[in-house]
Amino acid sequence: MKLRIAKLPGDGIGPEVVEQAVKAVDAVCAKFGHEVSYTLGYVGACAIDRTGDPYPQETHALCMESDAVLFGAVGDPKYDNDPAAKVRPEQGLLAIRKQLGLFANLRPVETFRSLVGKSPLKTELVDGADFLCIRELTGGMYFGEKGRKDGGDTAFDTCIYSRFEVERILKLAFEYAQRRRKHLTVVDKANVLESSRLWRQIAREMEPQWPDVTVDYMFVDNAAMQLIRQPKFFDVLVTENTFGDILTDEASCISGSMGLLASASVGAHTSLFEPIHGSYPQAAGKNIANPVAAILSAAMMFEYAFGLMEEGAAIRKAVAASIDAGVVTEDLAAGSKAYSTSEVGDWIASEIK
Ligand code: IPM
Ligand code: MN
Repeated sequence: MKLRIAKLPGDGIGPEVVEQAVKAVDAVCAKFGHEVSYTLGYVGACAIDRTGDPYPQETHALCMESDAVLFGAVGDPKYDNDPAAKVRPEQGLLAIRKQLGLFANLRPVETFRSLVGKSPLKTELVDGADFLCIRELTGGMYFGEKGRKDGGDTAFDTCIYSRFEVERILKLAFEYAQRRRKHLTVVDKANVLESSRLWRQIAREMEPQWPDVTVDYMFVDNAAMQLIRQPKFFDVLVTENTFGDILTDEASCISGSMGLLASASVGAHTSLFEPIHGSYPQAAGKNIANPVAAILSAAMMFEYAFGLMEEGAAIRKAVAASIDAGVVTEDLAAGSKAYSTSEVGDWIASEIK
């Protein structure tokens, strides 16, 4: 197969971790006989520095003509404490999601046997946890009307969802639940929010189409608690954009490190694969960041964008082997030897071969 990949490393540790994902992709392609090409694109702070635009038209054109996007991270501290900044790196990520129509963000949460001790949660709670968070990605407060009034002293963000947006994400969630353990949890705040009541109404209407899927409804505050109280309760969890953002950071504690969680964003156009972690500017250029989330995002790329399941599995197997062998970065090393970002990447690539 010919794979044309748009490589968008972005900011901070993005370039370092994406480079390790590329090594894994190259190793898999060599092993399975695929022809792969990468084209570099700019997004985030590095794109602002070059063009003034966090998601330049040229990058969008590249994404549209590629088969998949491998994404690193965006963000730069120089924008974080400047509320007056007109352009921000994060707008690049929001623009790419919106313009590629990536309405669903799939964030699997799994545990590695040899890492269960690294989770801040009790081993017996997390061991064997395995669920899929489906976060709506192009609606809600992120994209609703926002602004200031009263001369700037009042601010608002609007959480808005249409039936069309809710139906398409719930349909996907029902389908994934059906392929998995047939248990879907719809997370909302229907006791307070009108948009949540629409989600719940539509989910109830859709239930009869998937009679073999058990559906439960959970308020987001309770879900935040249940995720750490009984993570093994969950199979597929679906929720709106902001709740999904928050709950998946929380869920990363179950695996032991933020540096382990990968994601796939899918929708109308080219799918995008990115670690759930941010640009971690404190570590940028130090060769210490955990590349596993980026490498597992590459595994998701083979599976979700190309339907190449064996290739994805080969990457997953090599990642698991690296963890079992203790070839891990400092976030997971705890006392034992910490490997650098590139050493972990090299080890995994050679294990794949
Ligand atoms: C994520 C990130 C982004 C988000 C930021 C960087 C805009 O936190 O992908 O979860 O909030 O969606
Ligand atoms: Mn986030």
